[in-house]
Amino acid sequence: MMSRQELIYTNDVAGAISELRKSAGSPPTWILTDENVHRCVCGTLGDSLGDVRYIVVPPGDVNKNLTTLAGIWERLQLDGATRRSMMVNLGGGVVTDMGGFAASTFKRGIRFINVPTTLLGAVDAAVGGKTGINFNGFKNEVGAFSEASAVVVSSCFFDTLPPEEVLSGYAEMLKHGLLAGKDQYDRLLAFDPVSGDREELLSLLRESVEVKRRIVAQDPCENGLRKALNLGHTAGHAFESLAFRRGKPLAHGYAVAWGCVVELVLSHMAKGFPSADLHKFAAYVAEHYGAFYIDCSDYPALLEFMRHDKKNESADINFTLLREVGKVEINCICGDDDIKVALDLYRDLMHI
Ligand SMILES: NC(=O)c1ccc[n+]([C@@H]2O[C@H](COP(=O)([O-])OP(=O)(O)OC[C@H]3O[C@@H](n4cnc5c(N)ncnc54)[C@H](O)[C@@H]3O)[C@@H](O)[C@H]2O)c1
Ligand SMILES: [Zn+2]
Repeated sequence: MMSRQELIYTNDVAGAISELRKSAGSPPTWILTDENVHRCVCGTLGDSLGDVRYIVVPPGDVNKNLTTLAGIWERLQLDGATRRSMMVNLGGGVVTDMGGFAASTFKRGIRFINVPTTLLGAVDAAVGGKTGINFNGFKNEVGAFSEASAVVVSSCFFDTLPPEEVLSGYAEMLKHGLLAGKDQYDRLLAFDPVSGDREELLSLLRESVEVKRRIVAQDPCENGLRKALNLGHTAGHAFESLAFRRGKPLAHGYAVAWGCVVELVLSHMAKGFPSADLHKFAAYVAEHYGAFYIDCSDYPALLEFMRHDKKNESADINFTLLREVGKVEINCICGDDDIKVALDLYRDLMHI
């Protein structure tokens, strides 16, 4: 898959969508969105989009499923969409994942653009071509690599997002900063995403999306380098699974922020990641995200979750680690004893 995705950074979203439609020959256009976005956001786009039809689906990851997907296909079919039609996925990661898949499969694929309305969507889900739905109890079980022809990235939607959603997306930006290098990373640690200026957030977001774009362009189908983007996610997914088992699910980005702390400890132990940078990162996370409570009795379950992570290709537990900010090593195997020490140090750093 070649990356031909156009990324547009603007707070004039309606103008950008109109331009994209015009340059595609003004095709009949369907806007896919969810009920919350329809209520909170669509008004701000005004009537300037012209002749478009809306498909509004129920919100939330539980609805990123075959039933909702079939409903989207059916609406396109009943409304007479053709191969020339265009779809605009306006929403968070649920809408861009499911809408991308609906568009790439309807009539064997119609053109689609993504307009993320959550920070997580903008920095992660809407860019990079992973589309799909949850199926039979497994997340993202059915899908395809298929890039939107364009992504319109904007910070103008975030005012109606709950602060936890903003922080959740920001954790992925911190991750991108750790992968990219000192300059970008320092700017991110100096910024407060909840109270900070929206234009500044857009400029940080632009740098951050470019990190993902650069990595995906080199390895679109995740055979190697794209695994760098899994930083924080081996431990993070284990925290998410544990929290789910406790009946108190976590926002994904919070789990990633805490997972990055664990994996930077491992990076320090195995690759000499500087202790000062580890402490600075952990302090930012503790201040903005608080801590995820664990004690020693949780370690066996956390190790089991890490072992069953779908990123592993054998029984070993595979991490992306850093030698320093911006210096990445993928496919690092860590033993159970080292992981337990890292969890001990995570608890110290998070004051648990
Ligand atoms: N494709 C990828 O590479 C990728 C990467 C990361 C996550 N994902 C997927 O993304 C999904 C999570 O994305 P998400 O966090 O954006 O979730 P989401 O799409 O469920 O959005 C979160 C909530 O915010 C609401 N919302 C969206 N925009 C809003 C706005 N501007 N104002 C007020 N409310 C708004 C939504 O209705 C929803 O209730 C998951 O399904 C995950 O699997 C995909
Ligand atoms: Zn993530």
